[in-house]
Amino acid sequence: MKALILSGGKGTRLRPLTYTGAKQLVPVANKPILWYGIEAIVATGITDIGIVISPETGAEVQSQTGNGDRFGATITYIVQDQPAGLAHAVKIARPFLGDASFVMFLGDNLIQDNLCQFLADFEAKAAAALILLRPVQNPSAFGVATVDDQGQVLKLVEKPKEPQSNLALVGIYFFSNLIQKAIDEIQPSARGELEITDAIQQLIDQRQSVEARQLTGWWLDTGKKDDLLEANRIILDTCLESDGLGHLHKTSKVIGRVQIGARSQVINCTIRGPVTIGDDCYLENCFIGPYSSIGDRVTLIEADLEHSVILQETKITGIHQRIVDSVIGQRVQLTNALHRPKALRFMIGDDCQIEVT
Ligand code: G1P
Repeated sequence: MKALILSGGKGTRLRPLTYTGAKQLVPVANKPILWYGIEAIVATGITDIGIVISPETGAEVQSQTGNGDRFGATITYIVQDQPAGLAHAVKIARPFLGDASFVMFLGDNLIQDNLCQFLADFEAKAAAALILLRPVQNPSAFGVATVDDQGQVLKLVEKPKEPQSNLALVGIYFFSNLIQKAIDEIQPSARGELEITDAIQQLIDQRQSVEARQLTGWWLDTGKKDDLLEANRIILDTCLESDGLGHLHKTSKVIGRVQIGARSQVINCTIRGPVTIGDDCYLENCFIGPYSSIGDRVTLIEADLEHSVILQETKITGIHQRIVDSVIGQRVQLTNALHRPKALRFMIGDDCQIEVT
């Protein structure tokens, strides 16, 4: 059994962050989204992992994630030279996959459920495919499944205008090598991509067994800002442990679970957890409210924020309005020279979203 993680794509829904970086490397609780998937796979005992990358962001994914040693796995990188669909990614990964069965994991998906039981079911049933489903409010944004009373999948449609159920396809799939033949038999969809949903439908049409299981825990497709903030909130809520490698000056007050990274200094601040602060940060005269993740080498002076994700090397000084529900990219400078600003001065790139409220 192998694993194939898809970490290409353009990440259009997370622009502008993804103009400069891979969406799968955007951090949730200070850890790249992609790494949660790798860890979930390794927890099932699968250690032979292929990661499909794009020419634009692949080098960054590769340099940050490495050869797999840090996860106890072996990682092979596979470049998909054009974003031609999820099934296309499986096709170009054939030299890596060979005849093996595999779990395919979309690198921007995060789930709470452990994968072990799903893998055990897939193997016990000797199914051609096992898919995971979750009821959602907006099925049109996903692949949608219709299942019978026994849980057998009857039909799958990619992003239907008129969905026949509220069961979305989660971006985690278990496949036998039969999927390869099915992929060879499908045509590109209206959006010009080889859809994995169509390939699974092909298996159903060929009367191969396609099993479905429903997730019981949460599922987040972190490709959008609000989902990213929600993932950050949930991970901080459920996984964060307090520890303090950094220096918490005695003028600071910490309430709840707060993690402070190595060499970080926290001077005259109030931090109300859950909050994670990366390495080599400098915080002075700040209030940091719940559900905030602050990346490495961030400087915050006279700032007030909560429920926000701040990426590495950003500097925020003298912003007295509370920053809430925000995702702020790497190396951003947000400064205010005067205490009571008379005017706001900006240099803002395409697709930024700024609300002065
Ligand atoms: C993809 C799949 C879709 C699935 C979704 C889950 O969509 O095509 O069937 O429901 O992932 O994240 P995409 O995110 O590429 O639009």
